[in-house]
Amino acid sequence: MDADASIRSTDNDAAVARLSAVQKRYLDDPFIKHLVPRAHLQPLRPPLINVGTFVRSYAIDDLTTQWLEESGKLNQPCQIVSLGSGSDTRFWRIATGPLKENLATYVEIDFPEITTKKAMAIRKSRELSSVLGTPADVTLSQGSTALHAPKYHLLPNDLRLPPAETMEHLFMIPSPSTETSILSSSLPTLLIFECVLAYMLPETSSRLLEWFVTQFSKSSAPSGGVLGCVVYEMFGLGDTFGRVMVNNLKTRNISIPGAEPFLTLDSLSQRFIGSGFTAAHALTLRDIRKTYVDRAESERISTLELLDELEELDLVLNHYAISWGLFLSNPPHGSSWSHWGLKKQEK
Ligand SMILES: C[S@@+](CC[C@H](N)C(=O)[O-])C[C@H]1O[C@@H](n2cnc3c(N)ncnc32)[C@H](O)[C@@H]1O
Repeated sequence: MDADASIRSTDNDAAVARLSAVQKRYLDDPFIKHLVPRAHLQPLRPPLINVGTFVRSYAIDDLTTQWLEESGKLNQPCQIVSLGSGSDTRFWRIATGPLKENLATYVEIDFPEITTKKAMAIRKSRELSSVLGTPADVTLSQGSTALHAPKYHLLPNDLRLPPAETMEHLFMIPSPSTETSILSSSLPTLLIFECVLAYMLPETSSRLLEWFVTQFSKSSAPSGGVLGCVVYEMFGLGDTFGRVMVNNLKTRNISIPGAEPFLTLDSLSQRFIGSGFTAAHALTLRDIRKTYVDRAESERISTLELLDELEELDLVLNHYAISWGLFLSNPPHGSSWSHWGLKKQEK
């Protein structure tokens, strides 16, 4: 397998882990089974992996929900761009949930091999395609590597390519009269990189983040450009456990140059600040599980499976982090956004 095929294979790992967490009732997601081939034959993952999948998903869902809620309060529907989206189902969960009216556009980007597979799965599944609109609303383009619907766009791209040469063009879709951009820098926009940046060089991911900041710094919205970004990935790999993780991935021909330089939580926040974001935070999954998950939810998941390796769980969760950054081109006007972030739960 070439190196990129190995990177793409991680999509199946993420999807199978999600499916397992759903089957074990950690997560509620009626859509994932339509995106995993032979879903009923997939093995369940161990409790430790299920808990990790739950915490990762809980935190990203929380940040996304807050983004949609704030957009609703300000009467500005938002845009969400998921980069390296793989088989993620977040669009379908939002589009069938109580905040769907607050969403203007959802864009997913991945390698063409992955978007082609996802577009086919969407076309094959009534449950997935009916959420996108009527059949006439849904079109394939670029040799079936791209799919467009009124609020949803699935686009093929290698995120390592120079964004100045690829991104603007990627977001332009031909309409009957003229080319229009799918994204508007006037609307609050959330970028999601869920387990993606680890696979590319840090300078490549910074260049991508900087490109988005530049677009939103030119926003013509009266209150200025508002850009948020959530990143989930491994970090702190300098210790023995971290080196084992890196070596395990190497045996699958997967390297993670984008995780290895990030040894501390602070370095994850600094990546945002160095790319032009105005505020940034980072937390380990261990801290999120202990202090940031709603208490009733924590109690509920603690009853699902017997988890006797708590030390090992802490060790693993301590090597994964959620970080989030905010860019406001006009901070005084956008100040209500500064509350966006994971919140500690009452004891
Ligand atoms: C571990 S999977 C995560 C998928 C999804 N974000 C999730 O959390 O379920 C990583 C995804 O990133 C995609 N990816 C990695 N590097 C990429 C690149 N340079 N360009 C486009 N997609 C990339 C892979 O193809 C894969 O779908």
